[in-house]
Amino acid sequence: MRKPIIAGNWKMNKTISDAIELVNGLKRNLYKIEDVDIVVCPPSTVLSDTAEVLMDSNIHLGGQNIFWEEKGAFTGEVSAVFLKDLGCRYVIVGHSERRQYFGETNEGVNKKTKTALRTGLFPIVCVGEKLNERESGKTFDVIKDHVTNGLKDINGKEILNCVVAYEPVWAIGTGKTATPQQAEEVHKFIRGLLLEMYSKEISSSIRLQYGGSVTPENISSLMEMPDIDGALVGGASLKVDSFSEIVRKSSEVKKRCTYS
Ligand code: 13P
Repeated sequence: MRKPIIAGNWKMNKTISDAIELVNGLKRNLYKIEDVDIVVCPPSTVLSDTAEVLMDSNIHLGGQNIFWEEKGAFTGEVSAVFLKDLGCRYVIVGHSERRQYFGETNEGVNKKTKTALRTGLFPIVCVGEKLNERESGKTFDVIKDHVTNGLKDINGKEILNCVVAYEPVWAIGTGKTATPQQAEEVHKFIRGLLLEMYSKEISSSIRLQYGGSVTPENISSLMEMPDIDGALVGGASLKVDSFSEIVRKSSEVKKRCTYS
């Protein structure tokens, strides 16, 4: 049984005081939840303050990006070692916004994923097709490219520490969620790719998240899908009530759904 994982990607939002208010609210609302891994990924400028609030809580901390080198003359970059030092457990790698605005490639994603693993961070590796790629029938080719190259040469033991997030680019920040069936179709395909790369046991243990306009209204129907193990939430993770509701509903759904 895969433990659901709900992560909030705050992107470039929240000052220190806003961040502290948000995590305090989440802590108050979610302290009883034990059957979902809850993660927040604030911008690096507020990681230290949020880490302090979340210490000894059931909410884990994650970074939004790392560089693949551990230290040195790389102005403006954040090292995996620094995130680990701050108490982060997870890091998002290869988000589509990084691919789109910062020229991130599968090769870079692969290097960053390996660095995260070497440092003891759990990478959340993002994959997903753009609207024109979906419309021209290239979804599965793009996903295959992202998965096989992004996770290249990562062994069977290491991959168990990775989460793969399927985020169709056309669904991010647009209010246009993939239907549960559309999302499940791609998640199932990803699990099939993982089966080709690893064993049955490993592929069925890796957690796959969906991301793209996830809200308290649509989370349950997504979580009901057998290959969807969680969500990577953008906009709705910026408010205490909506993120708490998404976590609570995920916990409820996975309690009542048993898959053969
Ligand atoms: P939204 O939930 O705002 O669509 O963002 C999704 C996302 O990019 C999470 O990483």
